[in-house]
Amino acid sequence: MIELKTSEDIDGIRQASGILHEAMDAMEKALAPGITTREMDAIARRVIESRGATPAFLGYYDYPASLCISINEEVIHGIPGSRIIQEGDIVGLDCGVIYHGYFSDCAVTLPVGKVSREAEKLITVTKECLARAIEAAKAGNRVGDISKAVYTHARENGFDVVREYCGHGVGFNLHEDPQIYNYPHAGANPKLKAGMVVAIEPMINEGTWKVELLKDGWTVVTQDKKNSAHCEHTVALFEDRTEILTKW
Ligand code: MF3
Ligand code: CO
Repeated sequence: MIELKTSEDIDGIRQASGILHEAMDAMEKALAPGITTREMDAIARRVIESRGATPAFLGYYDYPASLCISINEEVIHGIPGSRIIQEGDIVGLDCGVIYHGYFSDCAVTLPVGKVSREAEKLITVTKECLARAIEAAKAGNRVGDISKAVYTHARENGFDVVREYCGHGVGFNLHEDPQIYNYPHAGANPKLKAGMVVAIEPMINEGTWKVELLKDGWTVVTQDKKNSAHCEHTVALFEDRTEILTKW
């Protein structure tokens, strides 16, 4: 069931998003060769808690951190630890905030120093996929229009699209209906309406779309070990416009 949000609810999600934005900003500033993924997690947690908010991922299905950090062939849900970030890595930062009961969710993939041209293109195209998806995310369209926007742009640029994971409604919980696939998907294709708040999150692979789960039970990697990129915004739909709440 899709739960619509009032403008007061959206104000709350916007506040959670502002704190998330600050955390993302602090992490972007700190991201450099030599920092560990655990230090990145600590930055996110410190900013979020300093604002009186709660990291949305910490403890979610027993997830052990505030940040998902996914490097190179890691697609999503990389767990922070002792790994040291290197020049040439592409680093996905995915974080969530709960503030006064409202949830926000956001991700970005950033290059560390000089990265390969193919990696740079992958990041650019993934961002463009998200931008096109947000353009398609307007009241009156359908969820499938978002899926199509992501898929078409990725394929036109020679990349492929992860199938096993998708975007989602967000706001009262981290994951709500509807599921927002990043490729054309048979089945329910609900109409987008004012009051919907959704997290749109293309996951785009340089090679095969196929992924596998590492033994840690969380980290998703590409099957061919080629790079993957991930971007995510929480957006709110109004009658006549769509607002990116996590813009940063
Ligand atoms: N960030 C993921 C999403 O976008 C959820 C993370 S799962 C968690 O939906 F367990 F790490 F929290
Ligand atoms: Co999400």
